[in-house]
Amino acid sequence: MKRTRREMLAVGATTLLAAAAGRNGLHFGSGEIPEDLAKWKFSKPLRVPPVLSPVRIDAKTDYYEITQKEADVELLPELHTRIWGYEGMFPGPTIKARRGRRTIVRQTNQLPHKTVVHLHGGVTETDSDGFPTDMIMPGESRSYVYSNEGRGATLWYHDHAMDRTAQNLYMGLAGLYIIEDESEAGLGLPVAEYDVPLILQDRSFGPDGNFVYHAGRGGRMGAHGTVVLVNGVPWPRFAVARRKYRFRILNASNATVFEPALQNGRPLIQIATDGGLLPMPIECQSIPLAMAERTDVVADFSEYPIGTQIVLSNLSGKGPQSEIMRFEVARDGPVENPIPQKLSNMEPLDPKLAARTRIFEFGISVEFKIPPLTWTINGKEFNPKASLAQVEYGQVEIWHLKNRKFGSLEMIHPVHIHLINFQILERNGEAPKPWERGWKDTVSLDNGEEVKLIMKFDGYRGRYLMHCHNLEHEDHSMMARFDVI
Ligand code: C2O
Ligand code: CU
Ligand code: CU
Repeated sequence: MKRTRREMLAVGATTLLAAAAGRNGLHFGSGEIPEDLAKWKFSKPLRVPPVLSPVRIDAKTDYYEITQKEADVELLPELHTRIWGYEGMFPGPTIKARRGRRTIVRQTNQLPHKTVVHLHGGVTETDSDGFPTDMIMPGESRSYVYSNEGRGATLWYHDHAMDRTAQNLYMGLAGLYIIEDESEAGLGLPVAEYDVPLILQDRSFGPDGNFVYHAGRGGRMGAHGTVVLVNGVPWPRFAVARRKYRFRILNASNATVFEPALQNGRPLIQIATDGGLLPMPIECQSIPLAMAERTDVVADFSEYPIGTQIVLSNLSGKGPQSEIMRFEVARDGPVENPIPQKLSNMEPLDPKLAARTRIFEFGISVEFKIPPLTWTINGKEFNPKASLAQVEYGQVEIWHLKNRKFGSLEMIHPVHIHLINFQILERNGEAPKPWERGWKDTVSLDNGEEVKLIMKFDGYRGRYLMHCHNLEHEDHSMMARFDVI
């Protein structure tokens, strides 16, 4: 039986949810794990996802193989959680690429559902970009080619299947992809075990340890969780040396904003945004991180005596979610140089070069059907066959994005554009926030906000996507295709 997307939407939320439950071990009911989550706080050590080894290497390319499969893993102490993971891991293994060297990842789907893989932040040919209808069917494989021509940066790979991205990610289909750039080598930034990814996610669990998935009205508001996971560990503790660390922080949650800050009031030193190093380091008291955004920070623990404990808090969370993890200064470290004042070259794109400005409105449309609300861009639901913009290859454009207020519905839309990195020219008519003044591929729009972005389409020709990275909004049609011609 085949149904169109529109008919599926009209089936109604309950049937949809009931049909989806059980197929992947996701609970949709209530019955969450009780009360005393705090007992897990700072008890388990931080894990770092393993770096995947290539199966083969030649002069220009590193070849990888990943199997997407179900696994029962211990996320919470003494409980098992059924996950869907790249290599059966939550989160998936990290891929390290080198700028200018190609990567080919052969993905095999051993899950009971169709999948798609997208490299978020990558400048990727259209066939490898993970268009939501370019599915890998269960039992099949597909190879993705990544050219890694962009700057050194913290990217991530994740599922992008039509209508199922939110559930597939909630189940675990996400991992880091780091592009290493030789130009960073001379900067004296922390490397190797002192260069640590922190993948932030929130999940709810049932008493049996399995995930509980609540996405709000019609399954389309956004799934939040009660447990904060860092690299798959609930509120971990991390023993550090008295020295500098680089933390690559990714918000990989479905619909939750994090705002990391040091609880002792010391600033975070931000060195990178989504698209790599900033021109110079900046001090921030906290860095709001909407879904899919990344920020790299340096924390210097040499200023604390051994035994000091420093909590990384989350200014946008309440109760147990107001804390993320705890650093514990455990041993001495070397004497180090300060972070250099110049980190990279970032030529500002000149708005005078822009061939045109396009306006995109992120909003809601109300119709006489069930459920009555859908998320839209310029009033339209996602249609994989219709392009909302035909962009000329090589052209510079300004995209003016607006979050249209809808009554009292408080909704933030982190907007992600595939294929390109952009610079933020303005937020609400003013300069962008200090922490978003680097290359970006995702920009957060709070209720009623607007931003102007500038970008150059010099990657590839083909069909690409722009969408809200609240994954439930994305699956419920807040996505648009654009074409580079
Ligand atoms: Cu991170 Cu189109 O997604
Ligand atoms: Cu992307
Ligand atoms: Cu949204």
